[in-house]
Amino acid sequence: MTMHSATLAINETIRSKTATGEKVLHLGFGEAGLPVPTFVLDVLREAAPLNGYGPVVGSQNARDAAASWFSRREAETQAHQIIFAPGSKPLLFALIAALEGDLVIPQPAWVSYAAQADLLGKGLIRVPVGENAGGVPSPGLLRDALNTAIANGQNPGILLLTVPDNPTGTVATEQDVKAVAEIAREYGLAVISDEIYAEVVHEGAAPSALTYYPEQTVITSGLSKSMALGGWRIGFARVPDNEWGRDLMDRLVGVASEIWSALAAPMQAVAAYVLSDPKEVLEHISLTKQLHARVAKAVHDEFVAVGAICRPPTAGFYLYPDFESLRDHLSAQEIHTSGDLASVLLERFGIGVLPGSAFGEPEQALRLRVATSLLYGTTEEQRWQSLKSDDPTSLPWIAESLVFLRDGLNGLIRNRGLNR
Ligand SMILES: Cc1ncc(COP(=O)(O)O)c(C=O)c1O
Repeated sequence: MTMHSATLAINETIRSKTATGEKVLHLGFGEAGLPVPTFVLDVLREAAPLNGYGPVVGSQNARDAAASWFSRREAETQAHQIIFAPGSKPLLFALIAALEGDLVIPQPAWVSYAAQADLLGKGLIRVPVGENAGGVPSPGLLRDALNTAIANGQNPGILLLTVPDNPTGTVATEQDVKAVAEIAREYGLAVISDEIYAEVVHEGAAPSALTYYPEQTVITSGLSKSMALGGWRIGFARVPDNEWGRDLMDRLVGVASEIWSALAAPMQAVAAYVLSDPKEVLEHISLTKQLHARVAKAVHDEFVAVGAICRPPTAGFYLYPDFESLRDHLSAQEIHTSGDLASVLLERFGIGVLPGSAFGEPEQALRLRVATSLLYGTTEEQRWQSLKSDDPTSLPWIAESLVFLRDGLNGLIRNRGLNR
């Protein structure tokens, strides 16, 4: 049986430590860490009386808005291709349930894909990502991995891509997305393109498998990251406009109607509003991206300064440092796995991060997933100030956290000297 999601579990451990007065730097949880703008609150207030169940797929208004939203982003879409849900997580589950075959995912990958495949009794094939970006299996390794899986009696059916990526905070290149989409076509795989971070690419736009494999690519997205509305649970998916897509939609509706019925009606009103791209929403997202970029870069610099190898962040609010180059020094402190490293950082230095093993990496790999978005502040006021600041890393609460992190990382590295 799948255990409680590692990301939610660390969040709870850190909160209970904080509650007893221990100082902990919370770099464990992938919440966008920003307040809800008044113009969004107003829409929800007005929509609160909407108490009917409504259609399983979502209201016409919400579906129209999502279709236009995709169409403005170079993916021509009709409303009938859209389904809403309480978050993209249940949609991913429904998709993995509805599509045939075993699941192929990048390594590392967001924690829930493997857990969902496990809950559904599906096989899993992990394929390492390349050096420069995560979220997409290295094209050079994918074909071999598929052939080996087939030779071993597995039945790869679904390729899941995360573009932009959590846990690495990077965006796969157009070239790699194209290459894996073409391999997916060759092997007849369905592609699920998890694009929940597409609106928070620090600069420019992310490529999509949809461009190269439109006939069997499904996109999932939502407002949890771009608008920091994770707790409002607004997710949606786009299926292809063909027979394959219509058949898939029927199966998704089958799962949805037996499990969540529909996204809460007031939340659909919020989605219809946000997805119509009003000016204030676009401006808000643009500030958000800037803040994510600046803080992630500052945290990146701290990890690199102590000798970790880390891809520069290009989207969202994550980093994925690798401490392999410091292995000898860490071994001297009995740190042999990413789990050891994460627990020493938490217990000895008050730094809460997730071990790479939670993302499907071998235990021995000394990699960590670092989320930077909870540094923006602990009160709404601090978070607003962070969002509006031209120099957020010099705000006292962020600057202090960076010093706390630096001291902790230096403590970890200094320890090596003592043990030598
Ligand atoms: C890669 C990825 N996909 C999907 C989700 C799920 O988001 P939600 O269910 O809030 O839409 C998350 C949230 O952490 C994520 O990081």
